Amino acid sequence: MKLRSKDILGLEDMSPEDIGTILDTARDMKKIVVGKIKRVNYLQGRTVVTLFYENSTRTRVSFELASKYMGANAVNVSVATSSVAKGETLIDTGRTLDAMGTDIIIIRHSKSGAPHLLARNVKASVINAGDGMHEHPTQALLDMFTIKEALGGIKGLKVAILGDIYHSRVARSNIIGLKKMGAEVNVYAPSTLMPPGMEAYGARICESIEDAVKDCDVVMSLRIQLERQKKALFPSPAEYSRFFGLNGENIKGARKDVLLMHPGPVNRGLEMTSALIDGDNSVIETQVTNGVAVRMALLYLLTGREEK
Ligand code: CP
Repeated sequence: MKLRSKDILGLEDMSPEDIGTILDTARDMKKIVVGKIKRVNYLQGRTVVTLFYENSTRTRVSFELASKYMGANAVNVSVATSSVAKGETLIDTGRTLDAMGTDIIIIRHSKSGAPHLLARNVKASVINAGDGMHEHPTQALLDMFTIKEALGGIKGLKVAILGDIYHSRVARSNIIGLKKMGAEVNVYAPSTLMPPGMEAYGARICESIEDAVKDCDVVMSLRIQLERQKKALFPSPAEYSRFFGLNGENIKGARKDVLLMHPGPVNRGLEMTSALIDGDNSVIETQVTNGVAVRMALLYLLTGREEK
């Protein structure tokens, strides 16, 4: 199996066939993640560097674990204490990592397009671990893997995405990926947190949470991204949770066995009640486990390219 491109920059330019290949490979990788001995040598002798200009727990740790489980040399660049703090440009940092023989650079950056700029200027493969308000392709891939694993497929499913869609790279990547794989996607947000042009992605804009979740197989709640809000876009956390948070009442129109998802980190009680987060329908922890499997699949498929 192989991927067509040198880099994983977004789902916009990924074919349904490549998405299918990644999800199938992740299924095999999950056996290693949940097994007793988490060690194979698929990446022996390879070097993987994580370069995160924004905070992360799940994405960074899962990429590091994925690299280590497959025997790679895994290095994290601590941006705050690196030469970035002395003014080094992104391209120069990338070329420096290239010169040390890095095979894969995983980058998270606050500026949309930063991974694309890096990819054009380095020999290493580049994986986008989240760029500004643009895309978070590996999150959407792990979300699609979780849906497929639980429900057997993606085509024909009804998925609702709720919350801070405006700032959400997770929403953008998921809408693009889910539509490519044949799902119907409903979106609902406070009007100040709904970006223009969502219809162009093929999503249906809904009038209420109840309208969005009706008969849905999957409901995905998004984190309120306070760090990206330049002005107050809703009156208060209490009002947000009352009018836009997911709870036991407004979820009732969804299917009884609906999957409740959240990319994390969750603001408990704001985006979703604790009862839903910890309830039987929640797959939030499974998403985290699956994140390691999907990232193992991506590293494996990217490093295998030149041998095919
Ligand atoms: N979902 C996600 O990207 O989480 P982190 O910010 O913890 O990586």
